[in-house]
Amino acid sequence: MSRIRPSKFAHVVYRTRRFEQMLEWYQMVFDARIQHRDSVLAFLTYDDEHHRFAFVDLSALQPGGEEGGARGLIGVDHVAYTYASLQDLFANYEQLKANGILPYWCVHHGMTVSMYYADPDGNQMEFQVDVFATSEESNAFMCGPINAANPIGVEFDPEDWLARMREGVPISDFVERRIHEPMSPIRGTLGK
Ligand SMILES: [Fe+2]
Repeated sequence: MSRIRPSKFAHVVYRTRRFEQMLEWYQMVFDARIQHRDSVLAFLTYDDEHHRFAFVDLSALQPGGEEGGARGLIGVDHVAYTYASLQDLFANYEQLKANGILPYWCVHHGMTVSMYYADPDGNQMEFQVDVFATSEESNAFMCGPINAANPIGVEFDPEDWLARMREGVPISDFVERRIHEPMSPIRGTLGK
């Protein structure tokens, strides 16, 4: 079986204690627009991708943390790559698993089905599949009430999904999320 590769680079997520300044800077420098924001997260894009940047406001998430005291938390949270299909995402999961590489977080974000991995240095990356066929649908979801109520997503067990796929449950049953709670914690560096 040939190795699975991403179909494209998707986005980068930064953790910041200069939330407003960062949003202004990225809007100005990339001519980006804010797709969705709440008190902790903001998602921006400059093209028809649902988001090219996201920002996590550490001041809201971890109030009282000082810039110096939070050393290591400021900066890149993760980068994201899009795979062509859910079959590709899971074939990649199985190939990596055979090499002893497992995701630390599997979450259905609503707009994407995502598996997060860390490299040997601990750099975090998201391997994702788009749920919606068009950017209009993705944008509508991102700006809609389901995403406002749960902007993180719902966790899933990849082994459970694989077992059900092998039983013949159609791929389409996994792609569009029908259960919108409970909201997953953010896992990875921030969740430690
Ligand atoms: Fe992401």
